[in-house]
Formats: sequence, structure tokens, C-alpha cells
Amino acid sequence: PEPGWSIEADVVVVGSGVAGLTAALRCAAAGRRTVVVTKARLDDGSTRWAQGGIAAALGEGDSPEQHLADTLVAGAGLCDEDAVRTLVTEGPAAVHRLIATGARFDTAPGGEEIALTREGGHHRRRIAHAGGDATGAEISRALVEAVRDAGLRTIENALVLDLLTDADGRTSGVTLHVMGEGQHDGVGAVHAPAVVLATGGMGQVFSATTNPAVSTGDGVALALRAGAEVSDLEFVQFHPTVLYLGPDAEGQQPLISEAVRGEGAHLVDADGVRFMVGQHELAELAPRDIVAKAILRRSLEQGVEHMYLDGRHFGAAMWETRFPTILAACRAHHIDPVTEPIPVAPAAHYASGGVRTDLHGRTTVPGLYACGEVACTGVHGANRLASNSLLEGLVFAERIAADIVENPAPRTPAAARPAAPRATLPLLAPETRTAVQRIMAAGAGVLRSADSLARAAAELDRLHREATEASTANTPGAAHKAPEPGVEAWEATNLLCVARVLVAAARRREETRGCHWREDHPDRDDASWQRHFRITLDAARA
Ligand code: SIN
Repeated sequence: PEPGWSIEADVVVVGSGVAGLTAALRCAAAGRRTVVVTKARLDDGSTRWAQGGIAAALGEGDSPEQHLADTLVAGAGLCDEDAVRTLVTEGPAAVHRLIATGARFDTAPGGEEIALTREGGHHRRRIAHAGGDATGAEISRALVEAVRDAGLRTIENALVLDLLTDADGRTSGVTLHVMGEGQHDGVGAVHAPAVVLATGGMGQVFSATTNPAVSTGDGVALALRAGAEVSDLEFVQFHPTVLYLGPDAEGQQPLISEAVRGEGAHLVDADGVRFMVGQHELAELAPRDIVAKAILRRSLEQGVEHMYLDGRHFGAAMWETRFPTILAACRAHHIDPVTEPIPVAPAAHYASGGVRTDLHGRTTVPGLYACGEVACTGVHGANRLASNSLLEGLVFAERIAADIVENPAPRTPAAARPAAPRATLPLLAPETRTAVQRIMAAGAGVLRSADSLARAAAELDRLHREATEASTANTPGAAHKAPEPGVEAWEATNLLCVARVLVAAARRREETRGCHWREDHPDRDDASWQRHFRITLDAARA
């Protein structure tokens, strides 16, 4: 649709989690006219749901080198070491700047020092947390407040549709659909020579996920349509311990933070036996791909749907003070972790891949940046280390803001702006979302094989074909009718786009590595596959 209104800015930030708001605050502080657009409310993204915390070498005896080593091991040979080094060395100061912005972390009893916990894959206590297990909520609160105090222009309830580029292929802004925002209602445009994608993840591409309903891969889909390269989409991380609510549970599921294991809870099987001991030197705190696979393997062996996380020995007081959010979520589902083990199973949690960037967050499209879960900076490789994501959002947002400020892009004259985006995809009916999720859960979940992926690809192709037919033949009596344009239809369209590219990447990687587990290729194969797949929409179509 044609934009009905437009505004001018120096920078438009798309998304309002830790990455987006940090980038926006830093750009605005440097005097850039900054607009934040976000799909729901400012605090509705994934950041708010982060429990465990933010990893950084803040503790005595810890060092960026040790953080680097743990990150590289988790990443299973595919991390970009320069990116990881940047993350771990700039991380501690970035956390202190976040504190200066207003975030309050838990401190050790009787002291001023930040309290640190452990999570999977970390050989040290390195995770700063807030409100016990509500770290993301506190970070989100602090950043939203800072954005409001700074008087930044924000547009909520705005789904970004497409990137605008000029005749030279440079970014010149975005089109967006705003719902119920007074003067900026309907489809409009923000013109700016720098666009920062910070739209978060794509967990909603699977049936059961820890991600909120807004995590529909919008940024990756937009970047693909704009011709940007994406990388490593096959590496979807499944969090090992998500509250098991039955085989038909769909949508966002309650997370049981790794920090619960970090504080000493045990994973036990249907017979009450601790099955991680002896499987890995870190037992329950092995990297999460190893724990997720062990849970699935033991569940299959025992013919059950889930394992248990036993933290009864914490006692009521510790549950109430250290893990109040998790305690409340379990009790809301009639499970009391104080007196019974928690049923847990893996669910989709984090996209380790995304829009490929350099160390300044620059994508392959000039003027387009990506930051946070939507990006693939190279820090996660084949499997993200727990609690590195908030840190990545912080560190790389600051680097992006510095790049925008130091290297201002030329502004495109209005006449050179194209009226239409580079590529369009047929719009899907909103109800197709569930079909995509079920196809992906059945064929491209934790356990994958050539057959399961081929089935998923064929089913996704069918949905694409039906949508294409409907978009070209929207006539009375046609089998499939094109849906009305609207946020739900665009979200379903984005989900299908990222699902198809994800499956293409997963089919191509004929090995098991990090969080990509091929039953038909159960070993890691460095000789053939220690490399990244960089995909554009054109390549995926071919
Ligand atoms: C958790 O609290 O277990 C999640 C941490 C993360 O995904 O980094």
C-alpha cells in the first residue's frame, strides 16, 4: 500500500528491546533526530521476558578471556572470534553504562557488589540479574523510562513493512502500518538515511516457544526482501527447561531459567534419576544444546513427554526471593516447585542466526543496521551461550550508534525514493500462522532429518503457492482468497518467509553442530561444514 503520511528523521530504530532502545538513546544523546517504531508497546518485546540475566566478566577472578573461551565452546566452531572478543571485552563497561542509565541489578547480601549466578556453559558465576529472575523486565523498565525522560519520538503499535532504498540501493527509510495512533494512523513512512533493525527473534515460527507473540521474524523477513544477506538461520536454540504444559501447548510457554540449575536444581527422569551426571563435566550446566538433547533422548528412552527439574531443596524462602517470577508462573499452572519437581521439556527460544552484520552492526545493504536477536554478528556461532544475548544487544547497539554518529550517511532527496519496496511476497491469511508453526514443529524442531525437512519444505511451498494463486486470482469462487492487508496477515507472511529460508539452510547443513541436530547426520563434520551459509531471498528462491 502507498504511504498516507511521512515523517523525516536522521535515524529510525525498529524495535524497542535492549538493543533498539540502547541504540536510540545513544543516537539521540549525540543530537541525531531519532524515531523509535515498535510493533506493540515499548516494553512488549522479548527483553522483558529475559529471566536469568546478562553475562559479563564482572566478578573477581573472572576475565574477558574466560568469557571468550566459554562462548567459543558453546558456539561449536562457528563463532567469529573477533566479534566474541569485542563482546566480552566491551561487555563489562556496557553493563556499567546500563546501570548508569538506571537499571538496578541484585547485589550480594550486605554489600554493593553485583550478585552473580551461573548458567549453562559458563565455568564461573558471571550472570548479573535483577529482581531475582526478572532481569529483562528491569532492563526494559530502565530503558523505557530513559527514552521517555529524553523525550524521544516513539511510534507504538507500528509494524514496519519494508525498507525504502534510493536509486543507488542506499537505505532511505521504512514504510510502516500504524494501528490507532491518531495522526499517524494507517500506512506511512519514516524517511531516514539510517535504519536500525532491532526487531528481536522469530520463536513464533514454532508451535511452542518462550518468545512472546510479537516475535515473528519481521526484521529478518524485511532484510531478506531488501536484498540483505542472512546467515546461520538453521541454528535455532531450544531452551532445555520450559514448563511442560501438555503435548498440545502452543504459543508462548513459561521459561524455567537456567539460573535455577545454576543455583543447584537437578534434572531428573521419570524414575527420579539425575541423568546429566556423567554425560558432561558440567552436568546440568552443560551448554544448552547438550542438555536439550539429553532431555529428549531420555524422554524417548522412557516413552514420556518430559523430564523434571527438582529444586525442592531450595526451600520456600529461596524460591520466593530468588525466583519469584518462575514460582508464580508454576503456581499459576498448579505446580508448586517448593514441594514437587517441575515438568520440563525443550521449546524454541533463540535464533542464533539472523541478518549478517560486521562489527559495527552494518548489514550488506548500505545504511541498514541490525542489532540484537535479529542480527547475526557472529558472536553466537552454532549455539548461543546463555545470557550473552542481552549483552550482545547492549554492546553492538552502542557500536551502531557510534558508527551512525561518526559516519553520517548522505540523505536521499525525496524524488529519488522509490514508491515500492524491492521485493514483495504474497500476503498470507492470518490463520496460516498456526499451519506454519505446526509444519515447523513437526519437521524442523530439535530433531531434524532429510525426510522431516523435505516434508516441511514441501508443506511450506504449498502454503506459498496457495498464497501466490490467491494474490493473482482473487476472484469470486477461487479456492483461496487473498486476505485483507493487516498486521496479522503481514506477520503470517513474515513467518512463512523466514520458515522457508530456515528450512533451506537446515536441509543444506548435513551434519550435527550446536543446536542444529540432524538424526541422519549425527556427527559434527568440520572438514565439510565448518562454514556459514549466507543466504539472500533470491538465492533461497533459486
Ligand atoms: C534463562 O534464563 O535461562 C535464559 C537465559 C538466556 O536465554 O540467555
